[in-house]
Amino acid sequence: MSDVPLRRYVVANAVALAPSYAALLVLHWSGALAGKPTLLAMLGIAVVTMFLVQRYLGSLMRFARFVGELSGEREPAMPRLFFSPATEELAAAAALLSTAWRRQRASLDNLAASAQAIVDGLPDPLIALDRHRRIVRTNRAARLLLGQVGTERDVSTAFRQPQLLAAIDGLLETAADGNFIAPDQTAVEFVLSGPPELDVVAHLRRLPKPAADGSLALIVLHDTTAQRRAERMRADFVANASHELKTPIAGLAGFIETLRGPARDDASARERFLAIMADQADRMRRLVDDLLRLSRIEQHEHARPDAEVDLSGVLHSVVDLLQLKATSRKVTLDLVLDEALPHAVGDPDELIIVFQNLVDNAIKYTKPATIVRVAARPVGEDRVAVAVSDDGEGIAAVHLPRLTERFYRVDAARSRQLGGTGLGLAIVKHVVNRHRGRLDIQSTPGKGSTFTVTLPAAS
Ligand SMILES: Nc1ncnc2c1ncn2[C@@H]1O[C@H](COP(=O)(O)OP(=O)(O)O)[C@@H](O)[C@H]1O
Ligand SMILES: [Mg+2]
Repeated sequence: MSDVPLRRYVVANAVALAPSYAALLVLHWSGALAGKPTLLAMLGIAVVTMFLVQRYLGSLMRFARFVGELSGEREPAMPRLFFSPATEELAAAAALLSTAWRRQRASLDNLAASAQAIVDGLPDPLIALDRHRRIVRTNRAARLLLGQVGTERDVSTAFRQPQLLAAIDGLLETAADGNFIAPDQTAVEFVLSGPPELDVVAHLRRLPKPAADGSLALIVLHDTTAQRRAERMRADFVANASHELKTPIAGLAGFIETLRGPARDDASARERFLAIMADQADRMRRLVDDLLRLSRIEQHEHARPDAEVDLSGVLHSVVDLLQLKATSRKVTLDLVLDEALPHAVGDPDELIIVFQNLVDNAIKYTKPATIVRVAARPVGEDRVAVAVSDDGEGIAAVHLPRLTERFYRVDAARSRQLGGTGLGLAIVKHVVNRHRGRLDIQSTPGKGSTFTVTLPAAS
């Protein structure tokens, strides 16, 4: 009763009662019905009608509320509709509306979930902002990078970089006529404070009109740290390589000057200078050879070599090649091969270069009159390891992580004097990477070093 407004209740009753009351009154006036029965009939009809009208109107009200709730967030409760002929149809309509609501709701939820799944699948962090610069949506990558950023908060709670905030303001700024002022996309570079510190490019886009969730501006961050580092490395490399070449060229030019001028007629000086010049030319040749080799190996570093390589043959030829150099330093080369040594998978020419570099280093950096050991053995089921050990001065731990960088030397002058280019271990590292192998360096200062190359074995 309480949910039916009184006025409507009274009016509905009046309308329902009017025809029967009129009929009863006509009957009474025409004398067909006495006063008492007329009154009794009117009373009886009134009671029944009021009851029915109350039920009927109640059902209608509940149905109206149900229809109103369909537009809301929560699933509406099915209304209780009582007997009376018309409410049956209403009940059927309500059931139909209710299933349709559920179906639409499910497909909407589905759409929203797919949209979020797609956004989450993007590898780059994405942040969507509304027209007031508030965060509307983030993807997984953004949450990983920035931590949990609250939506509905101003974007400055996630970023403090003034360049970025200024660019966002510019993008969202409107003129007096409500139109945007700036072009609909721009990019900003900045450093995201770490750790780790990242070089980032933020691509900003303004949507033609706000999306359903209010998103108007999209920020996509692109991490350029690795690219920057590669650029820096390349620049350093060119500078280093030029520097390494410049020194012998300057030396050669100087000697040529001297031979043309002051030493023109000095036969013994000429012999001495020519020997030094030949040395310098040799150093340049070695450097250019190593540079070319490095660039060739780098070019196909991603293609894994797949030949079966007899490591025993490779190591024997390396030892033969370097025997003379070892003897001249009174170093003994000791090659120990495991009896059950499997073949390696790789490129024999490149593996010769690897072990030639490692044995050459060992000979150069070991103490005179010691033994350089080269030992090959299987490791587990599918790997084979070759270790090159020396009794040299060893390498301090601080140098180990950088030892395979191009031109990195513990003692550059000493390396040059021994005929090194500083590229040997960089070449070794690249070849080993290409072979999907690994290089381990163990060194105790004062005692010696062991360089171990582990390669995939042929099955
Ligand atoms: N067996 C070793 N013992 C001590 N130091 C080594 C050894 N092998 C390499 N190093 C250090 O690593 C540096 C880089 O080696 P590498 O790239 O082969 O250059 P290079 O031999 O031309 O100097 C060397 O200059 C040297 O300082
Ligand atoms: Mg070397």
